[in-house]
Order: sequence, then C-alpha cells, then structure tokens
Amino acid sequence: MPILELDNVSKSYGALTVTDGVSFAIEQGDALGIIGPNGAGKSTLFNLIGGTQAVDSGTILFQGRDITATGAAVRCHAGIARSFQIPHPFVGMTVFENLLVADAFGTTERHVREDRCRDILDRTGLLPKANRPAGSLTLLERKRLELARALATDPKLLLLDEIAGGLTEGECRSLVGTIKGVRDSGVSIIWIEHIVHALTAVVERLVVIDYGRIVANGLPDSVMAEPVVKEIYLGIDVDDQAA
Ligand SMILES: Nc1ncnc2c1ncn2[C@@H]1O[C@H](COP(=O)(O)OP(=O)(O)OP(=O)(O)O)[C@@H](O)[C@H]1O
Ligand SMILES: [Mg+2]
Repeated sequence: MPILELDNVSKSYGALTVTDGVSFAIEQGDALGIIGPNGAGKSTLFNLIGGTQAVDSGTILFQGRDITATGAAVRCHAGIARSFQIPHPFVGMTVFENLLVADAFGTTERHVREDRCRDILDRTGLLPKANRPAGSLTLLERKRLELARALATDPKLLLLDEIAGGLTEGECRSLVGTIKGVRDSGVSIIWIEHIVHALTAVVERLVVIDYGRIVANGLPDSVMAEPVVKEIYLGIDVDDQAA
C-alpha cells in the first residue's frame, strides 16, 4: 500500500488554478523528487498534503486513510512533517528549545523527550549549536534546523521544500548526506528542489510540475530526457528541432 496517494487533486486561488488534477502515489520508504519552474505550484502541493490549505476537489490518502478533510495538526500526529521553503525558527529560543517545541507538537505524550531531541540534533549536525539562539544560525544551520524540527515530530513521511536552496555546493553536499541518512532510516521523503543533481543523489523517482499539472513522472534519467521537460528547462522546442 502506498504511504501517500493523491487522486485528481485541484486547488485554485480565484481565477488562478494552482494545482490542476494532480494524481501520484509514493510507496513506503521511497524518496520522490519534485521539480518545476517558479510558481508552478510545488509548495502549494505541500500545503495541500500537509493540510495548511484545503483542496477544492480530489482526495488524499495517507497509509490508506482518507485525510482530505483533516487539519494540519492531525496530519502531523499521523506522521506527515514538512520543512518550509523559508525557515522560520523561534529565533529567540535556543536550537534545543526549538526541538523541544517541535517534539511536543508532534506527540500527544505529555513528558518532554530531551534525549530524543538531542539525538536528532546529533543526526542533523546541530549538537554543537544546541544552546545557541536559533536567530544566530547561518543559512545552512537554519536549513538543518528546519530538518531537525520536522524530524522531531517523528514523521513517517517527510516533505522537504527547497531545503538546499541558497546553499554553496559544499554545504549542499553535506546536507544531501544528512538527508540520505534520514531516507535510510526508513522515512519516506518527497523533496522539492531546483538543484537536480542534489535531488537525484537521494530520490529514485522524479515528478515534474508545470502550471499546476504533472507533465512527467518516472525514473530521473528518462524524465529529464522527455521533450516536455527539455522544453521547460532548456527552452528547447523539440518540434522546431525536428523540423
Ligand atoms: N495563498 C495564496 N493565495 C493566492 N495565490 C497563491 C497562494 N499561494 C500560492 N499562490 C500562487 O500560486 C502559484 C504557485 O505558487 P507556489 O508557491 O505553489 O509555487 P512554487 O512552484 O512553489 O514556486 P517556487 O519555485 O517559486 O517556490 C503562484 O502564482 C503563487 O503566487
Ligand atoms: Mg515553492
């Protein structure tokens, strides 16, 4: 059974259709990449999956259960977590306190799980920064904190929204290593990213979105070779070339 299944999901803002009949599924333990031009509707898809925005039509199943009408907190407790494109940690709190808040949000248990939070900071390379205010972190550290906060909610499905955006090549490589570790621990991942080589180091399948629609879905090499994808990314009109 897929961990997540979208069937014909659509969303409009006024006259603008941002998600247009999107259907796809991801199996338990798999990693899926999403690419597409700016404004294509990628982050909106995460809003719909995470429940911060409601779909207009279509259904979303998580572990076979229809979650289309449930709120974001319920989906988080069910095991869906995300990182945001622009990190917004609690800047006045320490890194460790940020983790404790996320841990408390992700569970209905009442006790604080400090050891667990420390372990996640270790896995995400932030342990040396545990007592620093989150507002003092570098961009890479903020991105790592986004990942750590999402992991603190104990996800089965992790949604990463351009977590490598703005990083240097070396920083990106180091973050990719951390994300691979998360994937290898059994968490399913959907990762939106413009940096295709970073994505393909982690994911086994790519979905391409353009104007709110899926225009390609499959193995990275074959997806990147599809004429419609070349047209979007390289501006190559394949029909013109053939003529
Ligand atoms: N809450 C909203 N109200 C109105 N329009 C919105 C809303 N959220 C997104 N949009 C519009 O929907 C379109 C898709 O936005 P979205 O953020 O999903 O794109 P994206 O693919 O994530 O782009 P980027 O690569 O730049 O992050 C854009 O035109 C955006 O302005
Ligand atoms: Mg976006």
